[in-house]
Amino acid sequence: MSNEQLTINNNSTIPEGSYIGGGLMRKKIVAGNWKMNKSFFEAEELISDIAEELETIDLNDTEVVVCPPFVYLEMATDIASDSNIRVGAQNVNDHDSGAFTGEISAPMLKSLEVDYSIIGHSERRKYFSEDYAFLRRKVDAVLNHDIQPIFCCGEILPEREAGKHFEIVRNQLEESLFHLPAEKFLRVVIAYEPVWAIGTGVNATPGQAQEMHAFIRRMVAEKYNFNVAEETSILYGGSCNAKNARELFACPDVDGGLIGGASLKSDEFIQIVKSL
Ligand code: PGA
Repeated sequence: MSNEQLTINNNSTIPEGSYIGGGLMRKKIVAGNWKMNKSFFEAEELISDIAEELETIDLNDTEVVVCPPFVYLEMATDIASDSNIRVGAQNVNDHDSGAFTGEISAPMLKSLEVDYSIIGHSERRKYFSEDYAFLRRKVDAVLNHDIQPIFCCGEILPEREAGKHFEIVRNQLEESLFHLPAEKFLRVVIAYEPVWAIGTGVNATPGQAQEMHAFIRRMVAEKYNFNVAEETSILYGGSCNAKNARELFACPDVDGGLIGGASLKSDEFIQIVKSL
């Protein structure tokens, strides 16, 4: 690690190496993104099984989050209220209420005691054309109702191959998150999800994940300050499973995972939780 000094925007300086992988105060999180899967009864069984198995584990400070489809959120928060599980939504609208047929708002989620919402998942960016400005408004909407965004960022394969992955992630964060004042930014969880790793079985190597997570933390330090960067949880997502979770989570700047396919089976999800 170099001894170079990093100047941050409050005019103080910190030694560059000291904030990379400090891991002092931030929360460790494993979140399951169920996407558009499971019937009601299957979903009920899955969350019940997870709740039961979590009772036998010493979680320390690890937070376990499940993000089922909207229609199962009430059932999920009911079961979660007697357990260590926190519940997140997979999406949210940027308005609080109104004529937006088929949409779900942050106050609605809050009324069901939902704690998190995924925002900016690459599937929503791609299939639903969600752009930077829309995502910025969604981030504001959830924070106004005390729901924590799990904000996803990450490059597609041609962008990585062209060496543009840092630039892409930088833009995603600058355009949709960095308008926030520090006290609000502290409520944000970031998930780095290289799109080429999502659902492909090809995860980022621990080296690739650590490199990007350290880059993100450094950006946060430059934008806000050292403490904010140290307190920001940065999750890895993309083909994370029971086999590779331990080595990914061992990276000093990887604070947990956003898990898709491997969160659909309670045994595997619990193995991943135990890896953190
Ligand atoms: P995956 O999905 O674990 O199935 O790759 C991760 C995600 O999309 O959040």
